[in-house]
Amino acid sequence: MKACIAGIGSYVPARVLTNADLERMVATSDEWIRERTGIRERRIAATGEACSDLAVQAGKRALTAAGLAAADLDMILVATCTGDYPLPATACLVQHQLGATKAAACDLSAACCGFVYALSVADAYIKTGMRHVLVIGSEVMSAITDWTDRNTCVLFGDGAGAAVISASDGERGILSTDLRSDGTLCELIMVPGGGSRTPPSEKVIDERLQYIKMKGNETFKVAVRSLEEIARSTLAANHLRVEDIDLYVPHQANIRILKAVMERLSLPSEKVMLNVDRYGNTSAASIPIALDEAVREGRIKDGSLVMLGAFGAGLTWASAVIRW
Ligand code: UT7
Repeated sequence: MKACIAGIGSYVPARVLTNADLERMVATSDEWIRERTGIRERRIAATGEACSDLAVQAGKRALTAAGLAAADLDMILVATCTGDYPLPATACLVQHQLGATKAAACDLSAACCGFVYALSVADAYIKTGMRHVLVIGSEVMSAITDWTDRNTCVLFGDGAGAAVISASDGERGILSTDLRSDGTLCELIMVPGGGSRTPPSEKVIDERLQYIKMKGNETFKVAVRSLEEIARSTLAANHLRVEDIDLYVPHQANIRILKAVMERLSLPSEKVMLNVDRYGNTSAASIPIALDEAVREGRIKDGSLVMLGAFGAGLTWASAVIRW
């Protein structure tokens, strides 16, 4: 038996923040942002709009696409690093809002790899008897973005994507997942304040430690290397060649990272889903948003072979191969 993606959906907030808007906030330019990142605009949650609000909208769309009701769900996993509260888990708020009365609910913290990590957890639970698991990647990155730091504030955006994972006994389904981590590089991307190491205090606020810090240039190099390496090992483990992949759906962090990976793997652009220009880096939401768009644009059809590739804080990196 396999676990398959029975339905997918996404939701992004209405407010668009353009590069021109950012030019008025920090010393940057539309040209620099487009050349260095490929981003033109990103979505920003409304005041009071939290991670669970985005997650619920994406979750409803995924349930509709799967033709299921919330009461059919056995489990809800929310991959996020920007939950509504330190506790309870955002997944419990989603469980309540959806009315998923039979579902277990918890969050998963693996930064930009969260969706692929959660997908592998769902895959394992389906293989051990669960019928339907809702996996959501949802982020309000704007809440942990320092809007005075040009090194990071141009990069991130808000959004959510969701997939219903169901048992399937046919050809289609998740063929493999591969999850990696290297905590020795934990300081490359970090929110240093507000957790148990440095609890919230005036000092945290004064030093802006509640916001995301990133060593962009070092992260960039490891990202290219890790995405290439995990794609190659995933293909080898599944006895596949690059040519067998119909669509590669990577984490949308930076167009230059993705172009470098495409070149190293000899992946032509028609086989790669790119939407970083419109949403920026939405962390755990980026892959499910891109997957949903690819399905709606007809770039993923029944039978397509899809490879996911993610990379992010931790460091973590991950991949999955799915027969759609
Ligand atoms: O999803 C998690 C994984 N994250 C990533 O994968 C992000 C990886 N890193 C990146 O995407 C890139 O490193 C960045 C886009 C963050 C930066 O690009 P870069 O080509 O690595 O630039 P840099 O950090 O080496 O900075 C080049 C210059 C610096 O100026 P000096 O020191 O050369 O005078 C920066 O101060 O660009 C400057 N700079 C900016 N200039 C205008 C940095 N940010 C900006 C900005 N606008 N927003």
